[in-house]
Amino acid sequence: MRTFLLTSAAAVLAGLSLVASAAPSAKADQASVIERGRYLVKIGGCNDCHTVNYGETGGKVPPAQWLTGSPLGWSGPWGTTYAPNLRNYFSRVTADQWVKVAHTIETRPPMPWFVLRDFSEPDLRAMHAFITSLGATGGESPAYLPPGRKANGPVVLFPEPPPAK
Ligand code: HEC
Repeated sequence: MRTFLLTSAAAVLAGLSLVASAAPSAKADQASVIERGRYLVKIGGCNDCHTVNYGETGGKVPPAQWLTGSPLGWSGPWGTTYAPNLRNYFSRVTADQWVKVAHTIETRPPMPWFVLRDFSEPDLRAMHAFITSLGATGGESPAYLPPGRKANGPVVLFPEPPPAK
């Protein structure tokens, strides 16, 4: 009886220590997924267009301001596009939806949509975890303008493509 009590007490204690250690390590896992997402957004170049002043300051924009969209237009034969606010966009899209979108999306230039197809599913989930951890913030970028419509603000002007041979 005594041995039984002792062993079951030991089992309870062992169970408790398992519960106690599970919580911090799940937290650590989530933190490392978010950190990987931050790394992927950074080396993936997403800030180059989706963050105001990122290139001009040599990347010295704090993450709190990352991916909030830009009023800089990209004009070419496709009209004028604007890099949208991804902080707001990601707050509306679940991780599952993002994995699907990233592997099927096709936008107008100069968004490198084809690059998103090469991201693995775990990487896309990490990216989603990081961007949603920053939270939605800021206003929306200007709306797309079709060819022939003049933009009000500054634009990067792309040349017409060379005539097909
Ligand atoms: C060279 C500039 C540029 C870079 C680099 C860039 N984007 Fe974009 N992105 C744009 C533009 C411009 C649009 C809008 C395209 C359009 O209007 O068709 C866009 C659109 C998007 C959209 C569509 C959002 C919506 O509302 O449907 C997503 C998602 C997106 N970008 C994610 C990313 C991610 C993630 C990265 C980094 C891997 C990235 N972009 C890098 C310029 C860029």
